[in-house]
Amino acid sequence: MISASFLSSNNIPLTLSKLNETDVDFIHVDVMDGKYVSKKTLPFGEIKHIYKFTNKRLDVHLMVNNPSKYIKDYASLNTEYISIHLDSLEEVLSNLKLIKSYGIKCGIVLNPLDEVSTIIPYLPYLDLILVMGVTPGEGGQKFITKTISKLQELQVLKKEYPMFNFKISIDGGINETVSKKIKSLVDIIVSGSYITNSDDYQAKITSLR
Ligand code: DX5
Ligand code: ZN
Repeated sequence: MISASFLSSNNIPLTLSKLNETDVDFIHVDVMDGKYVSKKTLPFGEIKHIYKFTNKRLDVHLMVNNPSKYIKDYASLNTEYISIHLDSLEEVLSNLKLIKSYGIKCGIVLNPLDEVSTIIPYLPYLDLILVMGVTPGEGGQKFITKTISKLQELQVLKKEYPMFNFKISIDGGINETVSKKIKSLVDIIVSGSYITNSDDYQAKITSLR
């Protein structure tokens, strides 16, 4: 499945309308607080109206120090997943439970330096593991090749824990060339600038599948 990020768009309503005409599976919503990462996305009150331009399900990625302040708002949209980072300033498990309490699927994000073993305690709760292929904070960066071995480790983990049912997603630096190398190792591919900087969104989405 493909999840499209609009982080690099300079006309979000237009980008969302164009994505709505494609067969993309999810819209990836990057939320940045200017603290966990240096950039800051628009406050919920200003951006919530933008989602009327799409009827795709949302895949929300919280790059924030205090996820609990954002979960209720983003759970009120047409949201499939909300994912949080392991090193936010709040307790991870209570935030996973908070996401679940709204009937939304929950995920943990692994940064390039986070080890796969750190998520083992959370596996019983997880619907998604979102693996960063770049350092979080901005679109248009180059994929870190070492991430491929992390995806392979996660495949091993899946086999070791067949009782748990989490999906694996990759986010950051994905284009057609990278996708060819990783698509057998993931369930969901997040891609931003590769899609939104092009004139033909559908062709780019098809090339990632
Ligand atoms: C990076 C974001 C990604 C990013 C993807 O901090 O989490 O979702 O916007 O964009 P590209 O595909 O341009 O790396
Ligand atoms: Zn993201």
